[in-house]
Amino acid sequence: MRLVIGISGASGVAYGIRALEILKELKVETHLVLTTAACETIRLETNKNVADIEKLATKSYRIGNVAASLSSGSFRTDGMVIIPCSMKTLGGIASGYSDNLLLRTAEVTMKERRPLVLVVRETPLNLIQIENMATVARAGAVVLPAMPAFYHKPKTIDDLVDHLVGKVLDVLGVEHDLYSRWKGVDPPKRT
Ligand SMILES: Cc1cc2nc3c(=O)[nH]c(=O)nc-3n(C[C@H](O)[C@H](O)[C@H](O)COP(=O)(O)O)c2cc1C
Repeated sequence: MRLVIGISGASGVAYGIRALEILKELKVETHLVLTTAACETIRLETNKNVADIEKLATKSYRIGNVAASLSSGSFRTDGMVIIPCSMKTLGGIASGYSDNLLLRTAEVTMKERRPLVLVVRETPLNLIQIENMATVARAGAVVLPAMPAFYHKPKTIDDLVDHLVGKVLDVLGVEHDLYSRWKGVDPPKRT
């Protein structure tokens, strides 16, 4: 299996890093594109450096390299996730303004009708952002907000991160055991 992983400059680069770690463990081929702002958020939000994160991927690309293989639909992939996805990158995808490799690859992924997952992160949202989400959803992308759940009783931040990454892998069809699936509960007994 071959996936494209994009990391943009929204808060929550830990999600993208964890996705790369787990996909490496699962022996999934990964092609990584980091935006310039992502490199800055990595510096501000983590104690990791960009080179170490790039080493987690099978191959890493420069954001300005619009001539890279990923730019063409003839380079086959099984899908793409942008994790996290900034509002700026969302806006670029929604408007078809593909002026960097990440935006171009997302455009290609949609035109080839391959799965595209956008882990958008912002709060609160303005109407332009909400409408951009609707636009990309109508064009076939899956909008999967970085929205933590608590029904699985997380104990650590890592538990929250793994749950979100697990939801992404579910959409992309990657088998994993990052979280325990909800099995339902019996309704309370009638009194
Ligand atoms: C520490 C930090 C956190 C940020 N968090 C967000 C965020 O959660 N969502 C967002 O849309 N932009 C966020 N931004 C702003 C983006 O990085 C900025 O809009 C940038 O131009 C996005 O570019 P890119 O999409 O090419 O990565 C953040 C910036 C910094 C420095």
